[in-house]
Amino acid sequence: MKRSLLGTPIAASEITPREIFEQRRTLIRAAAAGVFGAALSPWFARSAFAQTGAATGLAKLAAKANAQYLPKDKLTRYKDATTYNNYYEFGTDKADPALHAQTLITRPWTVAVEGHVKNPKVYDIDELMKLAPLEERVYRLRCVEGWAMVIPWTGVPLAQLIRRLEPTADAKYVEFITLADQKQMPGVSVPVLAWPYVEGLRLDEAMNPLTLLAFGLYGEVLPKQNGAPVRLVVPWKYGFKSAKSIVRIRFTETEPKTSWHVAAPSEYGFYANVNPAVDHPRWSQAKEFRIGESGDLFSPKVKTLPFNGYAEQVASLYTGMDLKRFF
Ligand code: MTE
Repeated sequence: MKRSLLGTPIAASEITPREIFEQRRTLIRAAAAGVFGAALSPWFARSAFAQTGAATGLAKLAAKANAQYLPKDKLTRYKDATTYNNYYEFGTDKADPALHAQTLITRPWTVAVEGHVKNPKVYDIDELMKLAPLEERVYRLRCVEGWAMVIPWTGVPLAQLIRRLEPTADAKYVEFITLADQKQMPGVSVPVLAWPYVEGLRLDEAMNPLTLLAFGLYGEVLPKQNGAPVRLVVPWKYGFKSAKSIVRIRFTETEPKTSWHVAAPSEYGFYANVNPAVDHPRWSQAKEFRIGESGDLFSPKVKTLPFNGYAEQVASLYTGMDLKRFF
């Protein structure tokens, strides 16, 4: 049985533990008082952890803040970013990944790079992390369900990896295949999607300087529920393009068969560019609400911007394309 659960409109209050929901109210007050005003790296010193007093026990990741991507919006609270997740391998409730992903084993971990490249290679995750200097970048991420987050990610531009691998002329797309291990991931026994979770980008999208291979958030390694040890962040596309816990990167000649597109092709396109002018067949995409702030799926408050506000950097990738058809 295939169920197209992503985006089923449920009030945030119903799918989020009461405690977390109430903390959000506190956050709104804190935000109004300017707590998040001009947070700069290291984030954890000022905002997230200062707010929660939480000790995560996760390793810190040294990275230089990229001045091009400093926060323009209030950062999402760490607690919200790590307890309101989509990671169906660990369950379909927003709270499930934080509760169940702790069984994920993230070391040793390898990422195989293969397909139409001159230099295929199996990278150990620790080697992959040292490929290029780690950067910290604050990105907005908009989920197709109508919520959005503003997160300081740590990672390297995917283009830096791709240049090393030297794709051949036949490489037109990049496919991202993620871990699907029933032993570690209870959700993989449930056929919500055809596992493994697969995502893909056109090669030029993958090479765009915005596309990030992320190893951390908020100055620490990725929490498991957010896709440890390595995930994609593609900020001008709906969140489902940002594949978590990647084990294989494949250069292909044909468009990859991506999980959500295969599950419900009329609802989730391959491109999945954030586009307020193209509604999902079951709901509008014109507005969004920021996780931890006022509004919910029934009353989103903030206007969604074309390409999630990154049009200047990416609109030219789609010149001449009918974005209603290639949604
Ligand atoms: N990656 C895997 N492997 N499995 C998933 O279910 N969900 C996607 C994406 N990556 C998903 C995934 C969706 S729908 C979203 S919105 C983002 O992860 C959510 O990322 P976050 O939980 O860090 O906010």
